[in-house]
Amino acid sequence: MPGDFDMKQHGLRKLRAESIGGLVFASFSETVEPLLDFLGPVVIEHIERIMCKPIKVLGDQRQHVHGNWKLYAENTRDPYHASLLHLFHNTFGLYRSTQTGKSVMDANKRHSLLYSIAASNDDAADKQAYGDSRTFNTEFKLQDMSLLKGRQEFDDGITLVILAVFPNLVLQQIQNTLAVRQIVTKGTDAFELVWTHFGYADDDAEMQAIRQKQTNLIGPAGLISMEDGEAVEIVQRAVIGEMQAKSYIAMGGGRADDADHLVTEGSIVGFWENYEKLVGYGTAS
Ligand SMILES: [Fe+2]
Repeated sequence: MPGDFDMKQHGLRKLRAESIGGLVFASFSETVEPLLDFLGPVVIEHIERIMCKPIKVLGDQRQHVHGNWKLYAENTRDPYHASLLHLFHNTFGLYRSTQTGKSVMDANKRHSLLYSIAASNDDAADKQAYGDSRTFNTEFKLQDMSLLKGRQEFDDGITLVILAVFPNLVLQQIQNTLAVRQIVTKGTDAFELVWTHFGYADDDAEMQAIRQKQTNLIGPAGLISMEDGEAVEIVQRAVIGEMQAKSYIAMGGGRADDADHLVTEGSIVGFWENYEKLVGYGTAS
């Protein structure tokens, strides 16, 4: 190297990094707002709720999905599909649209928090609400019910949290499964979903076994999660040949509103409003 070569001028590009509850966030942007402002109090509260003590990473899974990443961003903001698409959720009462729950956003409507309380199930009332829905059948049984054996570990009774942080992060609690999902874009028609499963450092042996077993519910081939990747690919295949066509169902009024129930698409509207602003698409057409 010439004598005037300055090592300091040739380092790796530094990212702006901040952390909360042990989750590290990094940005290439010099101008993006500080992390806590970006997340807002609702998201911070629920990150701190799950990341309440030191964690222990149990393992990773990577899933290649042949679809646009925004279809998955929609999926994780949609409380309605979960109990129609996921037979397992519904049948075994892990999640039903009739449960006590909420769909709320941060002030900018970028992020989405969906949560529900399984203890609010009422099989008889739910049967009536679901009518003939083919994904609702409380008569189904597992040969090995130990898969559903879990423990209540949060005092608030919340048994399901899907916290979608704009644009590409999901923090989840489904029963006793805890995980971070990252959406890594691979072009316009593919993304990778990276799952990091974790428990807490002070989990006892029984809790470790519960988490390990319940991992069968989520991830690429999970009894609950497997339909999500498939649904994304079905939608991708359906829309790709119709580039000029438009269709839109304004379910729930089509407004980015919070809801104190689980039958809404308000958070999806919030996502698209923010995406539109970021990329500069107009709403006129
Ligand atoms: Fe889903």
